[in-house]
Amino acid sequence: MEKRDMLYEGKAKKVFKTDDPNLYVIEYKDDATAFNGQKRDQIAGKGELNNKISALFFELLRSKGLDSHYVKRLSDREQLVRRVTIIPLEVVVRNIAAGSLAKRLGWEEGRELPRPVVEFYYKSDELGDPLINESHIAVLGVATPEQLDDITTQALKINEILTAYLRARNILLVDFKLEFGLDAEGRVLLADEISPDTCRFWDATTREKLDKDRFRRDLGGVEEAYEEVLHRLGGQ
Ligand code: C5P
Repeated sequence: MEKRDMLYEGKAKKVFKTDDPNLYVIEYKDDATAFNGQKRDQIAGKGELNNKISALFFELLRSKGLDSHYVKRLSDREQLVRRVTIIPLEVVVRNIAAGSLAKRLGWEEGRELPRPVVEFYYKSDELGDPLINESHIAVLGVATPEQLDDITTQALKINEILTAYLRARNILLVDFKLEFGLDAEGRVLLADEISPDTCRFWDATTREKLDKDRFRRDLGGVEEAYEEVLHRLGGQ
């Protein structure tokens, strides 16, 4: 497999073609952005940590029978993935009120939700990723009702697997964001990344934040928190 031209550069990752039209290389960057790109910085080591953490989560999901775009980790910063067409939805699953949900419902951060909440946001930098519902998704035509059911079922299964796995490592999975794509056969496949950039992780004992909220809220110790997550997952 040979890495070829860059196809796309996002806020946290670059995507490269390979000599196989069905495989891409994803390179994780140290860049950190928040609030739709208004806050920016570089966090030394973040790309490497997120690549390793994300790879471990995708391998865990695979071991539980949940397939994704992930093929294998190639290096400290790179993963080999299957080519998918990304569905322009950010699928957020929540177990504990935090962030925008705490604001929307007027619930204090940290209040446990009686059941997981699944939300869909329309991926659009221009619109600022608005919260949308199933009717909006049907009108926009970004996913069929069957694809949306598939996405929801997979998202809830991923929540169950990750929550149990993290709880055993003294981490609470507060909420997280997933993205899905369609492969060449039209299958809905988990894509993107699962990392402290896209999840809220709290230490189960102290409730200390071990995720990107340390960057968003200027709490410091971002790299150390990401390192702690990797360490608890058994990686190095
Ligand atoms: O900000 P909000 O509370 O809606 O975020 C919910 C979850 O989705 C958090 O874990 C956050 O890290 C993630 N998220 C993300 N990318 C976005 C928005 C939210 O990974 N653009």
